[in-house]
Amino acid sequence: MADKDGLKTAKDYHTDTPFAAQGDFHVKGANHLDWGMKKHLSNIFDRDTGKTVMFAFDHGYFMGGTAGLERLDLVIPPLAPYVDVFMATRGALRTCVPASSGCGVALRVTSGSSMLDDDLSHEVVAVDIEDAIRMNADCMAVQTFIGADGQLSSLNNLSRVINAGFRYSIPTLGVVAVGKDMERTDRFFKLATRILAELGVQIVKTYYCDHFEEIVSACPVPIVVAGGKKLPEEEALTLAYRCIQGGACGVDMGRNIFQSNHPVVMAQAVRKIVHEGWTDKEAYRFYQDMSH
Ligand code: 5RP
Repeated sequence: MADKDGLKTAKDYHTDTPFAAQGDFHVKGANHLDWGMKKHLSNIFDRDTGKTVMFAFDHGYFMGGTAGLERLDLVIPPLAPYVDVFMATRGALRTCVPASSGCGVALRVTSGSSMLDDDLSHEVVAVDIEDAIRMNADCMAVQTFIGADGQLSSLNNLSRVINAGFRYSIPTLGVVAVGKDMERTDRFFKLATRILAELGVQIVKTYYCDHFEEIVSACPVPIVVAGGKKLPEEEALTLAYRCIQGGACGVDMGRNIFQSNHPVVMAQAVRKIVHEGWTDKEAYRFYQDMSH
């Protein structure tokens, strides 16, 4: 293992230079993967824009029925036409989401903590690869806790899921968790995103922060950005816009869509930023016009 003392500061991110190993496939870092992986990644990332609008409603896996998700059966189906991927638990999908929705699936496969715990960083792999195959999941989402008490077990979970994913050509989405004591700095996100990519995930989900474009440059797989806590719609659209401008390949928003007063209009507005090149201002005007 390299000596930690006397490390040089990383600085050569070449943020203006495009990823050099793109080849002819539209998903970053995936050019050398096999057909099955590419097929799943194409169900996630649009072939024309290379981007994705993921909609996360997996909160119940540790929060129970949170505000806005009390009735999955009523809230989720109307959003399907406006998002590319549903990120959810198998329980939510099987019970409340029509298999005919047309959306890709990012299947949450780890669990083990609840809102009642002080430390959320201890999880297990809760879904067998066979069930991910049965559900035709396009990727398997694994929570990771870099720098937290559960770092070792979460990276063990991640590696096991990546290995199973490679056996059956199902991509893995590594989710960077932030906890009460974990940093939200570019230093932390550079470390965490790169660890996940080097362990073999095909997609990383992380948070937006200063110097975001450096994080994107140094991460050889696509980054999708979590929405985080509910913001006023205008600010949430600005966040989405900054992520895309900074090089994100999409957003994975939950509360900023399902806790909006107008979730369907909000999903449409986010989609316009991600896939149609709209600015945050244009998207917010759309949101205002359509929500009256
Ligand atoms: C937790 C997750 C959740 O899916 C995601 O963060 C929830 O979305 P949001 O924060 O936008 O409500 O991955 O780590």
